[in-house]
Amino acid sequence: MQKSKRVIGVLISGSGSNLQALIDECSAPAFPARIGVVISNRSDAFGLVRAERAGLPKVWLDRQEFDSNEAYDGAIRDKLREHGVELVVLAGYMRLVRSPILDAYPEAVINLHPSLLPSFTGASAARDALDYGVKVTGITIHFADAEFDTGPVIIQEVVPVHQNDDEKTLLERIHKVEHRHLPYAVKLWATGRLQTHGRRVRILPKGDKSREDI
Ligand code: GRF
Repeated sequence: MQKSKRVIGVLISGSGSNLQALIDECSAPAFPARIGVVISNRSDAFGLVRAERAGLPKVWLDRQEFDSNEAYDGAIRDKLREHGVELVVLAGYMRLVRSPILDAYPEAVINLHPSLLPSFTGASAARDALDYGVKVTGITIHFADAEFDTGPVIIQEVVPVHQNDDEKTLLERIHKVEHRHLPYAVKLWATGRLQTHGRRVRILPKGDKSREDI
C-alpha cells in the first residue's frame, strides 16, 4: 500500500524557481511529499502565479495589516495549520521567521541560501562572493532558527565561480544546483532520514531508523 505523502508549505517572496522545482518533483507519484499551500509576503511574487498554474492553494498575507511581526507570523502559522502543513520550506522568502512559526514547527522549517554558509550571509550572497573574489561558492540548505542564515546545515554543495561571471551568470549556476538539492532535502525530511545533534545534522542511510549518535 502506498504511504500517504507528507504535506509541505512553501513560503516565498519572489520568482519561485525553487518552488517550481518542488512542484515538478512533487508531481511524481513516488515523491514522499506534496505541497499543501504556497504563502507569499508579496502580492507580486511570480511564485504565486506558478502556484496557481499548478492548481495549488496560494495565499498572500500583507504585513501592513498586522500590528507586529509576531502577529504576522501567527497568521502564517494559522494558514499553514489550516492546510495540514508538516514541513515549512523557505524558498526565497526574504523575511525572518519568528517564534509563532518556529515553535509550531520544531526541526521542520528549512531554508535555502545561495552560498556556502557561514560565508556570505544576507540578501546579496552571489554579488558578495564575486566582490570578494572567491573561486568557489555554493548553496546551503539548513534548518531555520531565529536569525538569518544560521541554523544547522543539512546539505551544502560547491558551485564554481568562473572568471567571466557576473551576478546573473553566477546566480543561474547556483539556481540549477538549488533546484536539484531542495527537493532532495524535502525527501530526506519526509522519509525521516534527518537526525539533528546540536548543530550537526546527520543523514541516515535509506531504511536506517536507528537513533545512534554521530
Ligand atoms: C534562491 O537563490 C535562494 O537561495 C534565496 O533566494 C533565491 C530564491 O530564488 N534564498 P527563487 O525565488 O526560488 O527563484
